[in-house]
Amino acid sequence: MANKIIVAGIGPGNEDYISPTALKRIRTAKFLVGGRRALDEFAAVNQITCAITRDLDAPINFIRDNLPLDDVVVMVSGDPGYYSLLDLLRKNFSPQSIEVIPSISAMQLAFAKLALPWHDATLLSFHGRQPTPDALKFTDGKILGLLTDAEFNSATISKLLIDYGWDKNSSVTICARLSYPDEKIIATTLDAAANAEPVKHCILIVK
Ligand SMILES: C[S@@+](CC[C@H](N)C(=O)[O-])C[C@H]1O[C@@H](n2cnc3c(N)ncnc32)[C@H](O)[C@@H]1O
Repeated sequence: MANKIIVAGIGPGNEDYISPTALKRIRTAKFLVGGRRALDEFAAVNQITCAITRDLDAPINFIRDNLPLDDVVVMVSGDPGYYSLLDLLRKNFSPQSIEVIPSISAMQLAFAKLALPWHDATLLSFHGRQPTPDALKFTDGKILGLLTDAEFNSATISKLLIDYGWDKNSSVTICARLSYPDEKIIATTLDAAANAEPVKHCILIVK
């Protein structure tokens, strides 16, 4: 059987959220790819590793070189199907050569923290991209779940949403460092968040 690229979701951060299937594949990998933090946490001395950095050619070349020899396990944060390296892997390798092990997304955990169903929510990403004005504009009963980044953070996004017609007293919950011991969940309003110290990499739930 041909070797596979195993894309293993490792959840929102805390090892308690990783699935036993993902953990087993990571532990038994000969070739392991992941962000530096994930490698520090999971890689063993006998594993041959490649760190995911800004140079995205490096993991692609590492996989291309080593896939003829064995499976290559790629660790990604949260769920692989939700804004991860999976897009790039599919551009470089056939879907038949990729096996995905799903996991809990930070977005799922944020909604869980609020005990709020997410089936009716509009889920959008500001992580290195910008949703369309149409997707962001206020409509009655709309619930937004937003990924953020350093530039589009809790403050800049809150300002933007007020510009797109959201009431300044709309509720926004800032969910940061989910699953870590220093997890922070701040329930506030768009107006207050727009004028407060920005929280950078987090999830915003707005309603
Ligand atoms: C490139 S996306 C990765 C999403 C990931 N695949 C998932 O399913 O959770 C990175 C963004 O996810 C969010 N994120 C990831 N882990 C998080 C955590 N532990 N707490 C809060 N937000 C998190 C932040 O908005 C961060 O900028």
